[in-house]
Amino acid sequence: MKIFSGIQPSGQFHIGNFLGAMKNWVVLQKENDCIFCIVDLHAITVDYPPKEMPQRILDATKDALAVGIDPAKSILFRQSDRPEHAELAWLLNTITNMGELSRMTQYKEKAEKHQESVGLFDYPVLMAADILIYKADGVPVGEDQTQHVELARDLARRFNSKFGQTFPEPKLLLTPTKRILGLDGQGKMSKSNPSSTYIALNDSPDTIRQKIALATTDAGNEPEISNATKNLIGLIEAFTGKERAEYYFEARRQGTIKYSEMKPELAEAIIKELEPIQKKRAEISDSNVKSILSDGAKKLEGVAQKTIKEIKEKMGLVI
Ligand code: AMP
Ligand code: TRP
Repeated sequence: MKIFSGIQPSGQFHIGNFLGAMKNWVVLQKENDCIFCIVDLHAITVDYPPKEMPQRILDATKDALAVGIDPAKSILFRQSDRPEHAELAWLLNTITNMGELSRMTQYKEKAEKHQESVGLFDYPVLMAADILIYKADGVPVGEDQTQHVELARDLARRFNSKFGQTFPEPKLLLTPTKRILGLDGQGKMSKSNPSSTYIALNDSPDTIRQKIALATTDAGNEPEISNATKNLIGLIEAFTGKERAEYYFEARRQGTIKYSEMKPELAEAIIKELEPIQKKRAEISDSNVKSILSDGAKKLEGVAQKTIKEIKEKMGLVI
């Protein structure tokens, strides 16, 4: 399969990104033809500090490498280094309806918090262009991106029926950990929420212990298990396996659960999983990252330009 996915360089990655997307990328790259993209043009659709952006791009790339993306197996590059993405987005804009973009839940959420720019509105079309320019078959993302991948499928189908068979319909590839909640149990874990609600990939062991110790739980004996508690037991499953999660679920059902036992177990498991990632990250230099990104963009030049040429011909733009 040809796989494409992207991640925004918008600050620190957390264990939600890791479990929902990046960890799966590392698995997929073993047997597939994978392209992973640092989507800087998406990150500028909400307010951001321009002076910090270069460092954020380098940091996001380092995180991807540290988690295990191997530039010898996969292509890792930065979106704005391949101008064909923005060009295809424009061409796709002409077959996209205002209505379908207005219905995007992520747009509605972000438009409440940020300036409602045309870029923010058009974000899903740029995402469809990212995927379709390489004619990808599979898109591994977290659940919050489902509607956007659906739009990419709709646009592929629409383009094919208007202008002739061109694009495969990319499949949504979700992981079992497709939606990790914040440690307060309120909505998805997100770097735009207070840092006490997420575990960043580069949090120190003490910070991780502290954050998990303060994570919200229910009292342990009401009939309903709260979302916050379910989420923590879900994290136990993700970091230590099904057996331990079953043990804690059963204890919760019996009303005998001890969070004072569960929380340190979870914290130590997260620390253990992140330790080699943090070690590897510290060894990657900025200049190494820059050359990996520029090599990646060069490798994609031929295929991206070929798709643009094909599409322009089909749309009647070649004289
Ligand atoms: P972003 O940081 O928004 O660019 O997201 C990068 C990837 O991580 C996307 O595939 C998201 O769907 C995924 N992701 C982000 N937050 C979460 C979360 N709380 N749970 C699961 N997946 C997530
Ligand atoms: N919008 C995605 C997110 O915030 C990132 C992204 C941009 C992406 N282009 C993509 C993901 C193409 C998959 C495929 O997570």
